[in-house]
Amino acid sequence: MLSAIPSAIGQVPASIDTLPPNAPVKRLSLSAGEMDVHLLGPDKPATKHFCAYDGEPFKIFRFERGTRLAVDFKNNLPDPTTVHWHGIRGPYLSDGVAPLTQDVIQPGGTFAYNVPLPDAGFYFFHPHCDETGQVGRGLFSLLIVDDAEERKVKFDAECFVVVKDWRLGDDGQWIAMSTDEGASTAGTFGTVRATNGSVTPPRVEVPAYGDARVRVIIADSTRVIDLGTDHDDAALIAVDGQALLPPQVLDNLPDGIWRMGPAMRADLQVRMPGPGEEVKIFDYRTSEPYLLTTLVAVDKGLKKTAFKPKALPASIAPMPDLAKTLPLEYLVQVSAGATIVSPPLPADDPLSKALVDSLCVGQKTHWAISRDSWSTDEALRLPPPLSQLATGSSYVVTCTNVTKHVHPMHLHGHVFKVLSSSKKKTMPQYLADTVLVEPNESVQFAFKAASGNWVFHCHILEHMDTGLMGWFRIA
Ligand code: C2O
Ligand code: CU
Repeated sequence: MLSAIPSAIGQVPASIDTLPPNAPVKRLSLSAGEMDVHLLGPDKPATKHFCAYDGEPFKIFRFERGTRLAVDFKNNLPDPTTVHWHGIRGPYLSDGVAPLTQDVIQPGGTFAYNVPLPDAGFYFFHPHCDETGQVGRGLFSLLIVDDAEERKVKFDAECFVVVKDWRLGDDGQWIAMSTDEGASTAGTFGTVRATNGSVTPPRVEVPAYGDARVRVIIADSTRVIDLGTDHDDAALIAVDGQALLPPQVLDNLPDGIWRMGPAMRADLQVRMPGPGEEVKIFDYRTSEPYLLTTLVAVDKGLKKTAFKPKALPASIAPMPDLAKTLPLEYLVQVSAGATIVSPPLPADDPLSKALVDSLCVGQKTHWAISRDSWSTDEALRLPPPLSQLATGSSYVVTCTNVTKHVHPMHLHGHVFKVLSSSKKKTMPQYLADTVLVEPNESVQFAFKAASGNWVFHCHILEHMDTGLMGWFRIA
């Protein structure tokens, strides 16, 4: 295992760009704030202190590939926050991870983010400090990056399935987002399930015999689902926004489902049946399948044709050179008590003085990556990097989960290739930014290292807040 502690000299990574300097710039004013929202239904009490970007719950942002977003962000929340652009390959200084890439943005404060959009796909953004609390109260937005090549692949409808539960009391007000019991096990579940913010599963009209592109995201910080449908003509065509090639008929995947954890996205192609018929999208992980959304076929004059899964254009993200990789091995484990085992960053390291805001970490440490936990020691010091890597080199990570719970492991700033799993032998290789690692499973994924300080963490946010996070220094 490579786990060299870097010496500071010359090791500050360059904050590289992923678009040419003349890329078209789109200025975007973005704010985060609180509002009241009727989450339990129109005639139930409104939930106070709901958090949203731009005062609009579940807002969907949509831009053209190749655009550079110049984001003027304003924090109107009563607490510090940051914005992390999940899945986007960009300069690490705009990655939104306090205190690794920026300081927290205080209430009333502003921050300018430079967010190039080099890849088409399905992304989202959310805070990277007090995530459990702020995302738990609704603070995230979807980010769709469209592309001319992709538009050549035609669909007759597009719909969104946003999986996000709420932790509410009967009075419609928030209850504690995290419990010790949850944080140390599978996470603290919401008390109310919802799709697209609605506790009644949405019904969406789609042209009969047409192809619907169904974009599914787990915005919940805890829930893992087994995505499936009661219909034969459905295929998985993209994972985490990147084309799955070849696309896979859902029924041909193990158990006919695609398992998704927090932060994971999946694009389905669903070929609709005849007028008046329905297709139900389910979560089959619960003992009783949970209905996420119903697609209702309405006559728009389309004729019935044979179902054929559609191939989206291949990802243009840099790919690892699989003939020349270096191995990295990490254990996902319960914390052995001590929070940081490795020696701290050397005193001359630019980050040696960076302190984690106590709002960004949990009260206790339950988890670790290869014996190191992200902070929570008294001093709130940043732990040393898991490994120091070389920009442009290709690495294969073997991530082994020796805990009793599943962990969706996310690497910032990269698109990686999931190569193999010790358990799911029949899985096709695919691209992703977050991969589920089941108990007693080893997953291997490869990536081409991009310059920056990038975190690698579990996206069950309470796990991340209680130790399941590390970082790579890539220079
Ligand atoms: Cu959605 Cu650190 O990530
Ligand atoms: Cu986890």
